[in-house]
Amino acid sequence: MINKYIRKDLKDFQPYYSPTDHYKVKLDANENPFPLPQNLKQEFIKWFQSENNLNRYPDTNSTELRKELGKHWNINKDNVICGVGSDQLIDCMMKAFLEPKDKVLIPNPSFSMYTLTTQMNHGIPVTVSLKNNYDYEVDDILTAYYKYKPKIIILCTPNNPTGNELSIQNIEQIISQVSCPVLVDEAYGEFTNISMIPFIKKYSHLFIIRTFSKAFGLAGIRLGYGVGSQEIINAISITKPPFNINILSEKMALFALKQIPTYDKQIRILQNEKKWLEEQLKLIGCTVYPSKANFLLVQIKHKDLYKNLKERNILVRNFSTHPHLSYCIRITVGTREENTFLIKAIKDIINSKKGNLYEQEKSKD
Ligand SMILES: Cc1ncc(COP(=O)(O)O)c(C=O)c1O
Repeated sequence: MINKYIRKDLKDFQPYYSPTDHYKVKLDANENPFPLPQNLKQEFIKWFQSENNLNRYPDTNSTELRKELGKHWNINKDNVICGVGSDQLIDCMMKAFLEPKDKVLIPNPSFSMYTLTTQMNHGIPVTVSLKNNYDYEVDDILTAYYKYKPKIIILCTPNNPTGNELSIQNIEQIISQVSCPVLVDEAYGEFTNISMIPFIKKYSHLFIIRTFSKAFGLAGIRLGYGVGSQEIINAISITKPPFNINILSEKMALFALKQIPTYDKQIRILQNEKKWLEEQLKLIGCTVYPSKANFLLVQIKHKDLYKNLKERNILVRNFSTHPHLSYCIRITVGTREENTFLIKAIKDIINSKKGNLYEQEKSKD
């Protein structure tokens, strides 16, 4: 009955799926595995008990948080906009710029929400394939730009799910030659020392998004932010829902910004863990792509690995059906305990007879 009223172009869409069911080890969503810093917890509880004003709507402009983010990046608060996760800012950007059937240029493989959000906003995703080791080719992006004349270009660096980075010089080469808005997604930016934020003064069509969901370990509060020229922030503000950031999330993010030294320590630990995990995976015989983020793209020629890991309540992200990522899974770097558990499980699965194609596939190579 209702079906005939659904937008025709969305009829075959499935809602975004993310397994939240029972698990022992969760390495599928590129989250930070550490618990909240103790000081953050204490500050939040103190604030909550003394002066929360949850009977009121939040500040629709998240002014306090934008001010602090401005200080953090040495920019004006008017160059910052906050979203319910950086996901919401991708959506707001598309809502602000796309007319029906406008094109959005997206690297492939990359974060799946770019394509979905484009389609939800009546746009058409056009892709540029990443080639050798999934590196970005500036010329390919520029060629696609001239061919498709997109309304928006998206660059993700470090790229999800491949982990590779696009250099500042290369990004600038692209931005300086195009006139449409360019979204640079730095969701994993804290794991590298690279950001395009200092370039917002030079390029008014540049929009950068960052998030509290990854390095800051606050995926549960749904808070992201975007940075850009006053012009681009004004445009995206038009489509930002009012009161989008709730009081609890804004406060938590403000307290998190005071804990940068703790997060820096966690990032260093995770970088060491990434090295260890990469070595272990290579010893097992996996291909591991170089990653600048907190996850590894891993190719392992075992048909049922994802399923077998899930049976053991270990969640990783399955990409084996993606045309560019055959036999690939993406593993979030966890604590040493989690990583060890995962490695042991992969070894067990490979060594077990059941569903094991590994040896067969290896001998074909
Ligand atoms: C590249 C990239 N961008 C954006 C997001 C969205 O993050 P959030 O909405 O939690 O800020 C993700 C989440 O996985 C991501 O991988």
